[in-house]
Amino acid sequence: MVELTLPKNSQVKAGKRYRAAKGAKRVRQFKVYRYDPDSGENPRWDTYDVDLGSCGPMVLDALIAIKNDIDPTLTFRRSCREGVCGSCAMNIAGRNTLACTKGIGELPAGAITVSPLPHQPVIKDLVPDLTTFMAQYAAIQPYLQSETPDPSAERRQSPKERAKLDGHYECILCACCSTACPSYWWNGDRFMGPAALLQANRWISDSRDDHKSERLDALEDPFKLYRCHTIMNCAQVCPKGLNPAKAIAEIKKEMVERKL
Ligand code: SF4
Ligand code: SF4
Ligand code: FES
Repeated sequence: MVELTLPKNSQVKAGKRYRAAKGAKRVRQFKVYRYDPDSGENPRWDTYDVDLGSCGPMVLDALIAIKNDIDPTLTFRRSCREGVCGSCAMNIAGRNTLACTKGIGELPAGAITVSPLPHQPVIKDLVPDLTTFMAQYAAIQPYLQSETPDPSAERRQSPKERAKLDGHYECILCACCSTACPSYWWNGDRFMGPAALLQANRWISDSRDDHKSERLDALEDPFKLYRCHTIMNCAQVCPKGLNPAKAIAEIKKEMVERKL
């Protein structure tokens, strides 16, 4: 039988315990993944008691309360605090989502685990390295490419043409979907992943764009597109309610139809 040995720093150890201050009335435990590559130490789970009576209702509010009042070394990304920027994406209670729109009260009783988006290198604590993810987005050329002369006014679309962009333009590039996709876990360097492919379909579907054929050519590859096996994790976790698997299926259909 093959014996696999995990790299030493992949073993997550028990961490520190931060107990609630005296007088705290509504205490909830947060078990948070901590990792600082500069320290040379293994990652660990630190456990914090947070007094819900003195922080807002969302998981991001609890993380901010931890950073402000308990442990200033905790590192995470956030910006808009209203589900628009995508920067606070992380894994909460075992599911990728946005910390700023996930209500603490929505989660099952018990300690709430918070860890970085899975299967990405970790820069520190809850901050994943999304360099490859963003490079894949850049690779789909996410901008209008038109051969028609610049119009003097806006480029017009019929309501039907415009409707084809629905379910695409709302994507905030949070990476919840790609990092929940098993095919992306195993082939993240070659499979474009659900987020980049949903964005690719946004431009393939745009009636104002003249590079549909080139865009399809760029995805005609055994790995970039066809590693999607319709497992549907992407659609289950998208915090904006989008369905990347459907967008991927539409690209595959375009690939077939252009050969007929
Ligand atoms: S449907 Fe495709 S892209 Fe979505 S999680 Fe499954 S394999 Fe990944
Ligand atoms: S499709 Fe949804 S989960 Fe994926 S990056 Fe866009 S907003 Fe995030
Ligand atoms: S902070 Fe912007 S989406 Fe959560």
